[in-house]
Amino acid sequence: MEKFQALVIEKEEEKVTATVKTFPQNFLPAEDVLIQVEYSSVNYKDYLATLPKGGVLRHYPLIPGIDLAGTVLASRVPEFTVGQKVIATSYQIGVSHNGGFSQLASLKKEWVVPLPSGMTTKEAMMLGTAGLTAGLAIDALLAHGMQPEHRLLITGATGGVSSIASLILEKLGFTKVTLVSQKEQAPYLERLPHAEILATQKLLQSEPKVLAPQNYDYVIDAVGGEVLSRLLPQISYGGAVAAFGNAGGFKLNTTVFPFILRGVNLLGIDSVNTPYPKRQQIWQAFTEEFKIDYDKLQVETVSLADLPKVFQSFAQQTHQGRTLVAFT
Ligand SMILES: NC(=O)c1ccc[n+]([C@@H]2O[C@H](COP(=O)([O-])OP(=O)(O)OC[C@H]3O[C@@H](n4cnc5c(N)ncnc54)[C@H](OP(=O)(O)O)[C@@H]3O)[C@@H](O)[C@H]2O)c1
Repeated sequence: MEKFQALVIEKEEEKVTATVKTFPQNFLPAEDVLIQVEYSSVNYKDYLATLPKGGVLRHYPLIPGIDLAGTVLASRVPEFTVGQKVIATSYQIGVSHNGGFSQLASLKKEWVVPLPSGMTTKEAMMLGTAGLTAGLAIDALLAHGMQPEHRLLITGATGGVSSIASLILEKLGFTKVTLVSQKEQAPYLERLPHAEILATQKLLQSEPKVLAPQNYDYVIDAVGGEVLSRLLPQISYGGAVAAFGNAGGFKLNTTVFPFILRGVNLLGIDSVNTPYPKRQQIWQAFTEEFKIDYDKLQVETVSLADLPKVFQSFAQQTHQGRTLVAFT
């Protein structure tokens, strides 16, 4: 493929534009592996990459897209062979290195994971960075002692990471799951396994307390900010929260009491620099113990040209589930 199409973000003074353009192959620096991208996916971070002060892109122009799955077209390293199916997420992809919203990607071998057998490239991107993050969060809570009889709460429930998390929990046999959402009437929430739906607004209306009744054992949090601040006092003795997001704010208003009087644990989840073996373990888990019912996941498939519209839905907080960018 001598030429390829990609979405490119450019910045002039304070104005940021996202345009589909055609590039010669040598626009991409020659790295270890050249990949023909079959699918990418749209994550919250990709939306932030389109904002003038989103704090994601390190330089311009840049092809965004923090994840991709496809076929190796050329390899300079023995770890990958031509024709092999692969997944790449995180690290500098779509941040300071041209990313997945592109027919071609040229990447360092450390950023590329072989596609597990039994998984398609489409399924890999239905999961994408969101799936990896949901898997890491649940892996951390299981290691902490989370069991199917425990009471779980998931915030930002219609979002990518959170909806995949609810489907993993279903697969693991958890039934006492509360979904917290700003869109508590959304039909999508009914499709996601849950015992209860709680409006974000209702959670925020409750009186802020230093310690509150111990309503939940474990929390999976995409929202941060005031939502997480209100939940910490409600976590039961010895429970934990897996915190990975800031969709609702990055400030945390808390006291030390949930930690020193109830032994509550705040577990930070980062998918960007997750060590390679853990990354492989989580991807593999999606073909076995974490194998979700993909039919329950709301998935929209779009082309590069549709991406500005998708970014708008993130801005308007109407985006739900997962959006795939297809190149096949
Ligand atoms: N740490 C990591 O490695 C990592 C990896 C992936 C993602 N993340 C972060 O995790 C979060 C979720 O990512 P995602 O890709 O799943 O995003 P997403 O699909 O946009 O989901 C976020 C969800 O949060 C809720 N939400 C959005 N704005 C909100 C607000 N202002 N107040 C309260 N709730 C709000 C919405 O759900 P409802 O309308 O249903 O409430 C939304 O669907 C983001 O902050 C992202 O940056 C971190």
